[in-house]
Amino acid sequence: MIKSSRGCCGAEELAEVKEAFEYGYFGLAYKTNEFEQELGNYLGTNRFVITVSTGTNALHLALDTIGIKEGDEVIMPSFTFVATAQAVVMCGGKPVFCEVNPVTFLIDVEDVKKKITNHTKAIIPVHYAGRPCDMDALMRIKEETGIRIVEDAAHAFGTYYEGKKIGSFGDITCFSFDSIKVMTCGEGGAIVTDDSLFDDLSRQKRLLGIDRKTMHVKDWKKRSWVYDVPTLGYRYHMSNINAAIGLAQIKKVDKFIERRRELCHLYDWELRDVAGIETMPDEYDTITPFMYVIRVKAGRRNKLKDYLMEHDIESGVSYIPCHHFSLFQGNVNLPITDAIYEEILCLPMHYGLSDNDVQEVAGRIWEFFGSEGVYDTEI
Ligand SMILES: Cc1ncc(COP(=O)(O)O)c(C=O)c1O
Repeated sequence: MIKSSRGCCGAEELAEVKEAFEYGYFGLAYKTNEFEQELGNYLGTNRFVITVSTGTNALHLALDTIGIKEGDEVIMPSFTFVATAQAVVMCGGKPVFCEVNPVTFLIDVEDVKKKITNHTKAIIPVHYAGRPCDMDALMRIKEETGIRIVEDAAHAFGTYYEGKKIGSFGDITCFSFDSIKVMTCGEGGAIVTDDSLFDDLSRQKRLLGIDRKTMHVKDWKKRSWVYDVPTLGYRYHMSNINAAIGLAQIKKVDKFIERRRELCHLYDWELRDVAGIETMPDEYDTITPFMYVIRVKAGRRNKLKDYLMEHDIESGVSYIPCHHFSLFQGNVNLPITDAIYEEILCLPMHYGLSDNDVQEVAGRIWEFFGSEGVYDTEI
């Protein structure tokens, strides 16, 4: 079976985790702090880095910290993993779904502008498949209106936008390090920002609202047991064990990204003449390709998906647009998103994939369209 996605951990991760075991305290501890440092180093920024237990929690914590509450609207693409929308609902806010660009599948800033009301408090651009959204335009909206920009960068750790890494600029950036992401902590997430008030408050909220500054910790032997809880909080910190995995992974992440880039170029090459599909823009050398997505034309997507599965090849449909779920259904008209959803197919993409695997997948796609008689003989 050629798996559609897989994590890649080995001896280095085990060695880090062993150290975390031996330390004996598994919660928020020294490796969590070290991992935050390393994330900042990797992104090339001295911005604040707040690690958390999942990417979903990163989004929720970010929205909660900026004060999203009942009655507030948050504009976001419907074309994203449901986690993005659930994070808004968790705060009591209302996700307002907007369109995406038909070629890049990234948030359509013109549609965002049309959907801004007096209730709009935040916009969540999703850097889908690792491609960066139009951050210049979005940051201009923030400057003009005060609306916060909370990036869902779950797919985009290591992606460049105009020569800068996602997370090294902007307002608030949320990453995921779940088990299939380009880099994993097992489960994990992080928020990056230059907003010091946000940093303070989100650190309290990440640990049940406990204000560690009120602990007067000067010396671990005299650690005070008195502390204050000034705000609602959650149990969202990243554990020392998850951070240990992340510390080993971050040393390898450039290698992971490079291999994914090679695989995307190989897919592009192998699929270049298949007339029944469209590939995405070839900008892989500046992004972290989280997924390799094709569009399957003429209503053949599901048949192709089944055909690949018959030949032991997994593929995915990421994502079912949020407005299709019963929780979010309303009067939403998103024809571009709906058309994308009908056609997309995510082919296997992970570090462990071999060139032969890609050729096997591409060969089966050729075979499928050949058997359906839709080779483009002109090319
Ligand atoms: C676009 C997007 N946002 C948010 C998340 C949530 O991240 P996590 O799985 O770490 O909670 C994911 C996870 O797949 C995602 O793909």
